[in-house]
Amino acid sequence: MDSASSPPSSLLHEFRTILQPLTLAEHFPTVQPLEVELGAGDGSFIVEWARRNPDRNFLAVERLLGRIRKPDKRGRRLGLTNLSLVRIEIGYFLEYLLPPASAAAIHVYFPDPWPKVKHRHYRLINERFPALARRVLQPGGVVHLRTDHVEYFEQMQTVFRADAAFTEEPTPADLAALTTDFEREFNAQGIPTNRASWRMRGA
Ligand SMILES: C[S@@+](CC[C@H](N)C(=O)[O-])C[C@H]1O[C@@H](n2cnc3c(N)ncnc32)[C@H](O)[C@@H]1O
Repeated sequence: MDSASSPPSSLLHEFRTILQPLTLAEHFPTVQPLEVELGAGDGSFIVEWARRNPDRNFLAVERLLGRIRKPDKRGRRLGLTNLSLVRIEIGYFLEYLLPPASAAAIHVYFPDPWPKVKHRHYRLINERFPALARRVLQPGGVVHLRTDHVEYFEQMQTVFRADAAFTEEPTPADLAALTTDFEREFNAQGIPTNRASWRMRGA
């Protein structure tokens, strides 16, 4: 990280337009590998992961202002310059705003499970998601997934297995050990985490 740069007054990105892809240089003082969290919620995971990995940049996407204000406050308190927060809808962000081949990793943790059959088409991880991930991942990039919901986890595994560009691999132990806000609540109720990591083939 560039020690000469001072922390910004807010980590929450102010859009001048949502009709052009993001210019990542406006989000981070240092050019370094980018990781993205989709649906960051209260954001304790991404704040701590960014703190532990100053040699990478992190973009967290969340649509609820009340939630995304929390990592803004914590990240500023820690003086993080490698974390940027984007308040926007994930599908639009993946399709139109995140530049192609820009992300080394995507984290999707405890996305809304939409348990009713008639609502399942709202799920983020569906048959269209691997193609969206292929667009924004760099060659060799990885998607990390977690959910409490067994049937949704099976759907996640099915859609990635069906895409020949992705191969499953173990989630790194240091990443798996860092829990999210929802994960801690589920685990405290005795509900275990289902997790998987899918790497896109390299160039
Ligand atoms: C169940 S919470 C999980 C939060 C966090 N990943 C965790 O594990 O603690 C899912 C989050 O995704 C956000 N979310 C759901 N759908 C979204 C969408 N289409 N665009 C942006 N955020 C979304 C919700 O507002 C919520 O904060």
